[in-house]
Amino acid sequence: MPTPSIVILDFGSQYVQLIARRIREQNVHSVVLPCTAKIEEIRAQNPVGIVLSGGPCSVYDADAPPADPAILEMGLPVLGICYGLQFITHHLGGRVRSAVKREYGPADVEVIDTANPLFAELPASLHVWMSHGDEALDLPQGFHLTARTSNAVAGMANPERRIWAVQFHPEVHHTQQGTALLRNFVFNICHASPDWTPEHFIHSTVAAIREKVGTGHALCALSGGVDSSVAAVLVHRAIGDHLTCVFVNNGVLRKNEFEKVQQNLRDKLGLKLVAVDASKRFLLKLRGVTDPEGKRKIIGNEFIAVFDDEANRIAEETGGVEWLVQGTLYPDVIESSPVKGPSQTIKSHHNVGGLPEDMTLQLIEPLRDLFKDEVRRIGRDLGMPEDILQRQPFPGPGLAVRIVGEVTADRVALIQDADEIVVSEIKKAGLYQQIWQSFAVLLPVKSVGVMGDQRTYAYTCAIRAVHSEDGMTADWVPLPYEVLKTISSRIVNEVRGINRVVYDITSKPPGTIEWE
Ligand code: XMP
Repeated sequence: MPTPSIVILDFGSQYVQLIARRIREQNVHSVVLPCTAKIEEIRAQNPVGIVLSGGPCSVYDADAPPADPAILEMGLPVLGICYGLQFITHHLGGRVRSAVKREYGPADVEVIDTANPLFAELPASLHVWMSHGDEALDLPQGFHLTARTSNAVAGMANPERRIWAVQFHPEVHHTQQGTALLRNFVFNICHASPDWTPEHFIHSTVAAIREKVGTGHALCALSGGVDSSVAAVLVHRAIGDHLTCVFVNNGVLRKNEFEKVQQNLRDKLGLKLVAVDASKRFLLKLRGVTDPEGKRKIIGNEFIAVFDDEANRIAEETGGVEWLVQGTLYPDVIESSPVKGPSQTIKSHHNVGGLPEDMTLQLIEPLRDLFKDEVRRIGRDLGMPEDILQRQPFPGPGLAVRIVGEVTADRVALIQDADEIVVSEIKKAGLYQQIWQSFAVLLPVKSVGVMGDQRTYAYTCAIRAVHSEDGMTADWVPLPYEVLKTISSRIVNEVRGINRVVYDITSKPPGTIEWE
């Protein structure tokens, strides 16, 4: 039987993943399913409660998400949020209308039914986040009003049928007490047990992998990043040296990264690691190529070729390899789900390297149930060093997407040195973990400078630092002047070949994070 879960049905809310996270933060497992999920699919998750998410539609829209109203008859506690409240109202005989006064943003809510377990230990006046155009006008039979704003219904309940609903969004940070409200639903109403802990996860995952793989052999393409490293360590705990990890130096890694990753994963964590220095092979193929897509293709194809060679060699040595470990995370699973909920917009994924299509390996994806911060918690419990767990994301095509124009060994060395300075100064200023990515970019622009009494003619380097949630949108970081000053002066003094440093103050959109 799967871990007992709260099932979240996705009606297209942009906050659906936040609901899942807030519940998991209580050490209770949660699963997002499209609102069209069949009753048997919901039951298969071993649910102890159901949350109906918000969504952009009106219940009267012709393309309103088609959920089965029988979800309200399963006998499980239900919490409707925003559209969820309107769905319940509409399907149980109440009335929804387009609001006279729409509510977007902060609002004050008065709790009327203070004895309701959903509002236990919450103040009678709540500061919440609203985002709705429709509202419940008449409540369905058997329901009573639990909370209201000055304009509209803010909450209703029918404890006999075990259905609760709120018009506001308890999952967003701006709703003070929102987490407490979700906690009340999870524990006071669903009576869930807080046993979705890292130890529980590690224990059950290791046991499941051991049973699945048996005496077989697995491969893992390591990038040195958080996800593939944690996945590898988990699988290694299950099957030991029946897992071989492959780490490829593609010639565009950061300074000393090839050595550092080996030290961390082989020496500190005991993984069986094959480190392949294919940098010459990659750089040779990249010679003379300036087109960004061309560079990406070469790196992707070359990676596949190198990995394929290694896989064949390892298969010969071990007598066969049947499994491939990948560090896929839950957000990717939700987004690529075959039955898409309405919130799943198509997003172009940047795959780490990409793997041979004709490879007949079965996948092990031990992290496919986890969010990034949960992966870090698991990694910590597995005893992994913080410098792996807190590493900023680094793209598969590496420094090739941070060198505008041709990628040569000399240019790679320049950008490695400049990048090392940026990262070390940002770490020294205590900012590294608050920033999504911070790095240096090499521009193919040379200009005149003076150093001492000498005229120089050298490259320009751009510094980029951005805040982001998921890499899809980003804001540039207003780095303190002192930090910028130190970075700039160190780069021009220490990196021979760069005589000018500029700071990129473009957000995404319209810019991108990397420079290609
Ligand atoms: P852009 O430059 O498109 O990048 O704004 C968005 C985020 O994606 C990362 N990125 C990649 N990650 N393989 C990866 O694993 C890639 O090919 C790739 N390209 C971009 C980038 O670092 C940023 O976080």
